[in-house]
Amino acid sequence: MRDEGGAYAALMRNYILKGEEADLLRIEDIGAALVADAVPLVELSGLHEQALLGAAGEGLLHASTPDATMEAIRRSSACLSELMIAYSIADAKRQALLERERRLDADRQRLESLGQMAGGVCHEINNLLQPILGLSELVLEDAEPGSEAARNLAMIVECSVQAAAIVRGILTTARQDTPAPRALVFAPLLRNTVDFLKAILPPGVEIALSIECGEESVLCEEAELSQILLNLVRNASRAMGGAGTVAVSLVHRADPEGTGPGLLRLSVSDTGSGMAPDVAERAFHPFFTTHASAGGSGLGLSIVMAIALAWGARLGIDTDLGRGTSITLDLPVQPAA
Ligand SMILES: Nc1ncnc2c1ncn2[C@@H]1O[C@H](COP(=O)(O)OP(=O)(O)OP(=O)(O)O)[C@@H](O)[C@H]1O
Ligand SMILES: [Mg+2]
Repeated sequence: MRDEGGAYAALMRNYILKGEEADLLRIEDIGAALVADAVPLVELSGLHEQALLGAAGEGLLHASTPDATMEAIRRSSACLSELMIAYSIADAKRQALLERERRLDADRQRLESLGQMAGGVCHEINNLLQPILGLSELVLEDAEPGSEAARNLAMIVECSVQAAAIVRGILTTARQDTPAPRALVFAPLLRNTVDFLKAILPPGVEIALSIECGEESVLCEEAELSQILLNLVRNASRAMGGAGTVAVSLVHRADPEGTGPGLLRLSVSDTGSGMAPDVAERAFHPFFTTHASAGGSGLGLSIVMAIALAWGARLGIDTDLGRGTSITLDLPVQPAA
């Protein structure tokens, strides 16, 4: 705060003397820095007052003509306006970020408690589904091909398979029976997983992979990386109408303090429909889907979130209606052993 006070006073002095726009721009930076330093709004008037007293002490506010004096006073006010506007804009952005963080945290907690409850229920349902599926398949083998009984049994098998897939999804979300993540060098794992995905994607959907990192290790699990990418790429391709290029990128970001090993940011981006704010807000909620009629269960992003949570990764979303969506996972780099 003391540094910013001194810098503001110096810029105000310059601006009163020369009226250069560049000084106002630098005052904008100070407004944003004050927000980053969590300086409360009420302290801004004190900071301005100090700068003003300094300028008055130097005689800058009393020029040789009344017009020049008015201009000096106007310029000092312009400095305050610039500071306040920049502060307000930066503060609004910070509040929005905090609110988004708070909502993501609430989602994570909801998911954890839902997972615990659902995990138990799903185990029981899974135990019942296995004989339903196994026995129907057995009876289907003996049924007269093309008969009504065979058609009905085929339907039972189909429904059981779908039910089992949903239960598997919920079990993943609840993270039961899943191995603990290990520190693995991530870039080659991503390359392999993307190669595997390319082979199973529908024609028309392509993945453009870009990797800008070294041999960093993060906590992860190979099979779960496939699940993450499959869900995100499927969502992305659906948002682009079933065809287009999904960009998957991995970049290393240094630790801003320069002390830790930083993070790897994995992003999956599309240029599809994007999401309206109310959809984006609920996209990670279990069972939330806007594709119910097309068979969407609304579990894809919940699964991604559950895995990210287990890996200690931070999940982010950037979406713009009509322009596209980018989902990011920030994976903390593990210190070299
Ligand atoms: N890349 C995207 N672009 C636009 N909307 C998206 C995107 N990803 C997710 N959504 C929205 O978020 C909702 C929830 O996504 P989620 O993956 O959890 O479920 P789903 O895709 O609807 O169903 P499922 O994954 O079970 O097939 C989607 O229904 C869709 O409205
Ligand atoms: Mg999905």
